[in-house]
Amino acid sequence: MPIANEAMQWSGSLSQIPKVQILNRVLLGNPTHFSIEEAINVHMEDESGELNSVDSSLAMEQWNNLKKAYRDIGTEVHELSPVPGLPGYCFTANPSLVLPLPDGNRIVWLSKMAHSSRFKEVEHHASFFRSQNLPLKEFPETVDRFEGCGDGILHPGRFLIHAGTGSRSSIRGWETLSAEYPDLQILHYTLQDSRFYHLDTALAPLNENTALFVPSAFDPSGQELLASAFENLIPIPIEEALHFAGNAHCPDGKHVLLQKGNPKIESILLRKGFHPIPLETSEFRKSGGSVFCLKMAW
Ligand code: ARG
Repeated sequence: MPIANEAMQWSGSLSQIPKVQILNRVLLGNPTHFSIEEAINVHMEDESGELNSVDSSLAMEQWNNLKKAYRDIGTEVHELSPVPGLPGYCFTANPSLVLPLPDGNRIVWLSKMAHSSRFKEVEHHASFFRSQNLPLKEFPETVDRFEGCGDGILHPGRFLIHAGTGSRSSIRGWETLSAEYPDLQILHYTLQDSRFYHLDTALAPLNENTALFVPSAFDPSGQELLASAFENLIPIPIEEALHFAGNAHCPDGKHVLLQKGNPKIESILLRKGFHPIPLETSEFRKSGGSVFCLKMAW
C-alpha cells in the first residue's frame, strides 16, 4: 500500500486493514550505566546550556517501579542486562521495531540509530531477539536513519503503523517497509517541533479508536490524518505534553502507564474508562524520554 501522508490518501476505514496481535511483552534495558554525555535532543540540557546530570540511584529506583508496574498488570517483562559505555541503552524503544504480521508471526527490524553514541545498542537487541527465536531484518544501506518504535507507533490490533520522520528517522525506512509488506498501511507524519523529536513523544494510541496526541507536534495534514485513524483523539495540553504525558504506554487497552503529575490527562483517562498508572520518570526525562521510550513491546 502506498504511504499516506494525507487523510484522503487512504480509505480511513480500519475494518479494511488486516488484524494483528497486540504485543503484550516488554523488553526493558537495565539503567546501571545510564548517563547524559551529549545533548542529542533539546531536553538534555538546562536553560544555561549545561548537560543535565542523572541521579543514578534514583534512576534505578524509578526503573524498578516501572518494571513492577508492568508486572502488576500482568505484562511479561524481559530485561537487557547492563552494558557499560552505552548511555541511552535503557531507551529500548529505539534500537529495533517488532512488527506483528497478519499471519500471527512477528518480525524484528533492526534500527539505524541517528547518533553514533547509540549505534551499539542495536546489537544487543539483535542478540536478545535471536535468543527468543524471532526473525531479524536489516535495512538496506540506503536507509540513513531509522529509530524503531520511537518513530514507528503500531496501531493497536491492525496492520497499520503511524510513521514519523524528522531528525531521527527519514522516509527511506518507511519506504522499505512499504515495499516489503504490500498490505501494511503506513500513515506518515512530518514532525514539526524539536521538543517532540520522536513520534512517541507526541502520540500514544490507547486502543483501536483512541489516542492521546500533542497538536503542536503535527502540521494540519498530520492532524487530519490522525483524526481519520482514531475516532477519539485526545489533545494533550502543552504543559502536560512537555511533562511527557504523550509518552504513555497502554499495553492492554485499559491500563495507561504515564509520567506522574499530568492531572488533566489523568482525569480524561479516568472519565473515558481507562486506568491511569502514574509513574515518576524524572531522571529519564532529563534525557528526553519517559515511559514509552523505556520499553520495546514484542
Ligand atoms: N536521549 C535519548 C535520545 O535522544 C532519549 C531517547 C528517548 N526515546 C524515545 N523513544 N523517545 O536518543
